Amino acid sequence: MKIELAKTAGFCFGVRRAVDTVYQQAEGEGEKPIYTYGPIIHNAEVVKDLEQKGVRVLETEEELAAVTEGTVIIRSHGVPKKICDLMEEKGIRCVDATCPFVKKIHRIVAEESEKGAHIIIIGNPEHPEVVGISGWAKGEVTIIQTKEEAAAFQIPDPGQKVCVVSQTTFNYNKFKELVEIIEEKRYDINVLNTICSATKERQEEAYDIAKRVDAMIVIGDMRSSNTRKLFEICRNACADTYYIQTLDDLDMNQLRSVETVGITAGASTPNKIIEEVQNNVRKNF
Ligand code: F3S
Repeated sequence: MKIELAKTAGFCFGVRRAVDTVYQQAEGEGEKPIYTYGPIIHNAEVVKDLEQKGVRVLETEEELAAVTEGTVIIRSHGVPKKICDLMEEKGIRCVDATCPFVKKIHRIVAEESEKGAHIIIIGNPEHPEVVGISGWAKGEVTIIQTKEEAAAFQIPDPGQKVCVVSQTTFNYNKFKELVEIIEEKRYDINVLNTICSATKERQEEAYDIAKRVDAMIVIGDMRSSNTRKLFEICRNACADTYYIQTLDDLDMNQLRSVETVGITAGASTPNKIIEEVQNNVRKNF
């Protein structure tokens, strides 16, 4: 059997950096106890492993406000400015592992809104990254996710500048579609495409492999939306696509009659799990 593992499977640059930061802090450098503000990634195995190293997860702002000592790590999604301010006020040591690409959006939003622009964020209003981005604006912000919302958007003050940014993981075609609707209302809109290419590259490579192989394995947490999306893309190209969280979910019998297998994984899947799956598929055939 031939196995093809996607080069882009698993952690992107920003997630890897954030996870590495937590391990570094837990295994030495950091003032204890170590907290992460929200789970560092949506992967139960990693969160459990970190828990065993003493890393606790703060779920809410109230929990953060109750912290009196130690180190708080900000995950790759970033946080609103008020969260950074709260830590500073309390004198808690903060290690910022916000992905530099997200940090760049924070800077754009802070600077543009400072100059008086109305900020539009194209993205999911409930996603922590979008909540974080919106928390760096110094004025009004509108979050747009659907065509209906774009059509309903009214430019508050006809003389005011408008600056559009995007959630890093937003779909590019959908972003373009929404921007076109907004641009119909006015010409002088400053549009900054802040979509990160990591997701697109992972999806394109997965589709490419899925088209060629007899069976495809997608590894990732069931709650991870990017893994679900990856699974859909692969299933469209290869009917024999399997969504697994860990090696335990993989039924080797399903792969008995195939000659080629592709493997990819969502952005929050650790390398260890990917390797385990790859090695076991190889061993069994
Ligand atoms: Fe950063 Fe892009 Fe990953 S924005 S967290 S490298 S998806």
